[in-house]
Amino acid sequence: MNKPLRIALTKGRLEKDTVGLLEKIGYDCTAVREKGRKLILPVPDGNLEVVLAKANDVITYVEHGVCDLGVVGKDTIMEMQGTFFELVDLGFGRCRFALATKKGSAFYGGYGVKTVATKYPVITRNYFESKGMDVDIVKIEGSVELAPLLELADGIVDIVETGTTLKENGLEVIEDIVPVSARLIVNTVSMKLRQQEIESFVELVEMNID
Ligand code: PRP
Repeated sequence: MNKPLRIALTKGRLEKDTVGLLEKIGYDCTAVREKGRKLILPVPDGNLEVVLAKANDVITYVEHGVCDLGVVGKDTIMEMQGTFFELVDLGFGRCRFALATKKGSAFYGGYGVKTVATKYPVITRNYFESKGMDVDIVKIEGSVELAPLLELADGIVDIVETGTTLKENGLEVIEDIVPVSARLIVNTVSMKLRQQEIESFVELVEMNID
């Protein structure tokens, strides 16, 4: 048997749905479910090896070819802009990027450059550039919703899933930017060298997405 295809999965939000998809295909994911502190986990009947990683690292590992495949959100793909192929929209992890402000506060209009807080400065810059609008961007690592509440920013660009976080903090969406969902990505060299195996895997994935 060939060496296993190595797939990097994003820990957290996307993890349950990704493992669910692999199990729907028919793979035994016991080792992934019972991982403990182990970081590289076998899925022997799929000839796969699973690496659980943070979203940004999924892209780094796939880009460098130490993982052949990856499952990661379109949000991270748009922000990191690496070199790899994006093969399948997996349909889960659905949410959207939106511009939000404190309820009732006017973001557009008035004088002066607006300040926008975000965990995603690239996406935010591209968005406002496409509107021909100059904004100051402040990068925040944690709960970006705090920035307008602390008067650090006029608005935020962030992921909205249920809208609960915004609502509970007195913020509201004023513009939807782009929808987001989980994607299957592949290293460009792996795609050439292991094309058949990857295509077979992709076919199974496509047959089993909801
Ligand atoms: C994201 C996002 C919002 C929240 C939105 O953070 O930054 O804070 O989810 O979800 P909602 O619309 O369902 O309330 P996440 O929980 O992923 O944490 P993070 O800070 O690790 O990105």
